[in-house]
Amino acid sequence: MKSSQELLAEAGVDSYLSKKACQQPTWPDREALAAASLELCAKPPLVFAGEADQLRELLGAASAGRAFVLQGGDCAETFAEATADRIRGKIKTILQMAVVLTYGASLPVVKIGRMAGQYAKPRSSDTEIRDGVELPAYRGDIINRIGFTEEERTPDPARLIEAYHTSAATLNLIRAFTKGGFADLRLVHEWNKGFTKSPAYSKFEQMATEIDRAVRFMGACGEYFDSLRTVDLFSSHEALLLDYERPLTRIDSRTGDPYDCSAHFLWIGERTRDLDGAHVEFMSKVKNPIGVKLGPTTTPAEALGLIERLNPDAVPGRLTFITRMGADRIRDSLPPIVAAVRDSAVPVTWVTDPMHGNTFTSESGYKTRQFETILDEVRGFFEVHREAGTTPGGIHIELTGDDVTEVMGGTEEIDDKKLGERYETLVDPRLNHQQSLELAFIVSELLQH
Ligand code: TRP
Ligand code: MN
Repeated sequence: MKSSQELLAEAGVDSYLSKKACQQPTWPDREALAAASLELCAKPPLVFAGEADQLRELLGAASAGRAFVLQGGDCAETFAEATADRIRGKIKTILQMAVVLTYGASLPVVKIGRMAGQYAKPRSSDTEIRDGVELPAYRGDIINRIGFTEEERTPDPARLIEAYHTSAATLNLIRAFTKGGFADLRLVHEWNKGFTKSPAYSKFEQMATEIDRAVRFMGACGEYFDSLRTVDLFSSHEALLLDYERPLTRIDSRTGDPYDCSAHFLWIGERTRDLDGAHVEFMSKVKNPIGVKLGPTTTPAEALGLIERLNPDAVPGRLTFITRMGADRIRDSLPPIVAAVRDSAVPVTWVTDPMHGNTFTSESGYKTRQFETILDEVRGFFEVHREAGTTPGGIHIELTGDDVTEVMGGTEEIDDKKLGERYETLVDPRLNHQQSLELAFIVSELLQH
């Protein structure tokens, strides 16, 4: 019998090795890397092929307007913050947003966390210089540490293993919270407890009361069915670090196809979506549903090239384009791309990331985003798709379950002065719990029109 590594080699998953891989660390200890890689290859998969297939089908429904995608979580997860409280907070925020969207728009919501593997970050420069000292840039917890010493910044392959275990623990908690009672719609009021009163909060209370009645009505009519009690929350992260993605790739024993079992859904970043690059090559070989981030300089030809490379069989749900244009550009840069893709007749799931094109530095020096600008990009996204006759299929956001002050605006009116109160992110500014809920209400209204 052939070994699993022989089967993977036959499936061609190593073809990316001959291509240029951007944004990879330079591991000083190659032997340690090889050992970590072997160790990962021997680990159980984090997710199963059948689950990835199920998600692909749901994303296919979203591409046709029969569902809506909600993808959210941290810009960068850290090992230290993989605590029960933080994870529960994020799950709760996603569930609350999902309730608002499901109820408001009467559409099934496909829930995907930027969770359980979002540990690698692209950087604009390989090194960082402080007071004349030059060290490797922080590339995320899966590679090195954020502290500015040589020891902390040296890429350490042992962190690949720690990322695996932290992802496994996070996924375990996700499964427990989504299947073990926490996601029960009869608890919809509970999720809102402990948050300060605000317009979004009281709107949610109102909706929760309506849902409560509807659920009790169904209970009175007969039984509570299972789908009221549990949700499917899928995992996703940017497939940036190929030294992690490749060793976690497995052959599905049922079909013989390779799947990247580090997460259900993986996306290629704007900086690594080069058609001839290693990331596109690698992702072309695995069967997971995948995404590609598209920035404002994307040409229609590039989008078509990505479709050809990543979804040659035109499988619904296989390919999601996550557009991150910036509010001031989306109405100009998105239409030609959408038109070209539409005319190709290959199904694509369109998701908006209204966060990454709208980052700036506030006067007081914080990297931030403006809630109104984020909304404007979401509105622009809906306008462009309505105009083109295509389907706005979902939203991709950076959020936390905590009351941080990282994004300006919203009904709390976080201003430049308030940013310093609870600015906790290591990388990009995230919507706090309340801003996330506000956004969900607005998107649910956009979906009704
Ligand atoms: N299972 C359904 C769904 O996922 C309904 C549901 C149960 C639900 N609990 C939920 C929806 C919590 C959103 C949030 O859509
Ligand atoms: Mn980010």
